[in-house]
Amino acid sequence: MHEVAQSLPDTFCEGLGLKPVQGVPLMDLIADSYELVANFQAKPDDVLVATYPKAGTTWMQEIVDMIDNEGDVEKCKRAPTHIRFPFIEFFLPPPLKSGIEDAENMPSPRKLKTHLPFHLMPKSFWEQRSKVIYVARNAKDNAVSYYFFEKMTKAPPRSWEEFLTTFMQGNVGWGSWYDHVKGFWEKKDQHQILYLFYEDMKKNPEQEIRKVMKFLEKDLPDHVISKIIEHTSFSSMKKNPMANYSTMPSGLLDQSFHKFMRKGDVGDWKNHFTVAQNEVFEEDYKKKMAGTSLRFHTEI
Ligand code: A3P
Repeated sequence: MHEVAQSLPDTFCEGLGLKPVQGVPLMDLIADSYELVANFQAKPDDVLVATYPKAGTTWMQEIVDMIDNEGDVEKCKRAPTHIRFPFIEFFLPPPLKSGIEDAENMPSPRKLKTHLPFHLMPKSFWEQRSKVIYVARNAKDNAVSYYFFEKMTKAPPRSWEEFLTTFMQGNVGWGSWYDHVKGFWEKKDQHQILYLFYEDMKKNPEQEIRKVMKFLEKDLPDHVISKIIEHTSFSSMKKNPMANYSTMPSGLLDQSFHKFMRKGDVGDWKNHFTVAQNEVFEEDYKKKMAGTSLRFHTEI
């Protein structure tokens, strides 16, 4: 499977557009295959890491894998993140494999990833009562991270101002941040959803790792927890080729200017938002987030 990513043509991402599926812009290849994704068969022992893009997916994936492997670093270095966690909605042009095929070929218990908003999630996850770990990140840092990520792809270049406007309109891959974080928040008590925040993981990794352990029904000794904290720290993951996406071909993810493991901070938005952008953003945020009990920290 590792070879699949390696054999992608360099031009793979060129000209990839977005197409709406039930009002959510998705990459063409994903949108065209959405019916297959909607019918994906989850299993009761699946663990799914669900996020809006750039909210800390890879970090949570490493934490889940370390807990599952009881702190065995070598086992967690068996393959890059995208192989260890099939990305269920991701479709590659034939004859390459899709996320669904990767998931179907994986022995249980499976660890999976998605960025789908709640209303596009395959229903089988709820029918099977699979465990879902959702990570949310404050909108401003999430937007900045997404902007730099876009620069690593072959998407046409655009300014921060342009990106921010599009982000606020929800016209980026996987749609509106606002709808995404609210969608899972509103449903979290009806399903097996553990809803966590990037900012809490940053502030108190041990506390959040313990929440994940409890959710996964794992009881690990303190020295293993210390090892998990260390292995999943930003500095360790930045150096770890199995967690930093350096195995991805540059045609898919070009890290020559910006790294996937870029800053890993809370509050980096302050280095990018102008005062005027912040005012407009705040005003719009209040409207879009009115009526929800969901609260974020934009600094710690
Ligand atoms: P930045 O671009 O702000 O640095 P995702 O995995 O959802 O694509 O999210 C990527 C973001 O999470 C990037 O944010 C990346 O640096 C950050 N990240 C990844 N691992 C991290 C870790 N161990 N600690 C803190 N942030 C991490």
